[in-house]
Amino acid sequence: MTGNNFSSKMETMDKKGYTPLEIVDKREWREDFFSLFFHSPLLTSSLRSGHFLMVRDPDAPTLLSRPFSMGRLFHDEGVFELFFQVVGKGTESMARKRVGDTLSVLGPLGNPFPLEKPGRVLLIAGGRGISPFLSALPVLAESKRDYSLLYGAKTARTLLFRPFLADFPVSYRTDDGSFGQRGLVVDGLSREVDLVFACGPEKMLERVALFYKDLPTEVYLSLEERMGCGTGICYGCARKVRTDRGVEMVRVCEEGPVFEASRVVWDE
Ligand SMILES: Cc1cc2nc3c(=O)[nH]c(=O)nc-3n(C[C@H](O)[C@H](O)[C@H](O)COP(=O)(O)OP(=O)(O)OC[C@H]3O[C@@H](n4cnc5c(N)ncnc54)[C@H](O)[C@@H]3O)c2cc1C
Ligand code: FES
Repeated sequence: MTGNNFSSKMETMDKKGYTPLEIVDKREWREDFFSLFFHSPLLTSSLRSGHFLMVRDPDAPTLLSRPFSMGRLFHDEGVFELFFQVVGKGTESMARKRVGDTLSVLGPLGNPFPLEKPGRVLLIAGGRGISPFLSALPVLAESKRDYSLLYGAKTARTLLFRPFLADFPVSYRTDDGSFGQRGLVVDGLSREVDLVFACGPEKMLERVALFYKDLPTEVYLSLEERMGCGTGICYGCARKVRTDRGVEMVRVCEEGPVFEASRVVWDE
């Protein structure tokens, strides 16, 4: 995705605030993983790791919008990436899109990871939870911080982005030992860090929260709640979270998706 010159089109919004964006590139990974690339200098410069976008297919008006983190940001070209796994109708329709097709995008939404906090940082990614860290890594590298990424997947085949990640301090884990250390990411957690930012399956996030529960490390988790509107209107994403007033249902799209681990209430 480097060296391309994309002509600057006006980014116009529809009545609901969505901007139709043309797909300028597509990558089919394997095992149902895809990347779509969009030219939007405005979004590319304003997206921060942990933000999300609501994505709607204008050719499938009956499908609800779906939330996605952005992947890599190509600032020179004004291009951002959506990296996703096909799990149902919405992602299936996105995977069928071709270069030149259009998707409607709303964002940036939600609160990003507080990357600016001082201290030694550990990023923890499980599977497609790598998305938000693809933009966090260059930011952390630029800031000359002590940081590293722990990235796990089921097998080497689904441990993606390795050429890109080669520029950063990363330790890999696979469930079957086909790349990096054998085992789950939660088996490789370090106590020697001040800040943890994690994204991945709910069970992984819960175990990360449990591991650091009694340690001074500050832990922030990006929650993948199902969403309807993404903008605080429908309450479709409400989830139990600890607040100053006790345990309350809060809208993940408004207050999250990034939460301090100590605030998250896990299902029994
Ligand atoms: C803030 C945020 C960021 C996200 N970023 C990414 C990303 O970068 N890449 C990516 O691949 N996915 C991401 N997701 C998840 C993505 O939104 C869902 O996979 C997508 O909405 C599924 O839509 P679908 O129509 O294909 O599946 P559906 O037909 O809606 O569902 C198919 C199956 O997936 C389950 N499912 C759907 N949504 C979720 C969810 N949020 N959590 C758990 N299970 C779910 C359903 O229960 C069902 O079993 C993110 C979600 C959130 C909230
Ligand atoms: S998704 Fe509608 S309120 Fe959060």
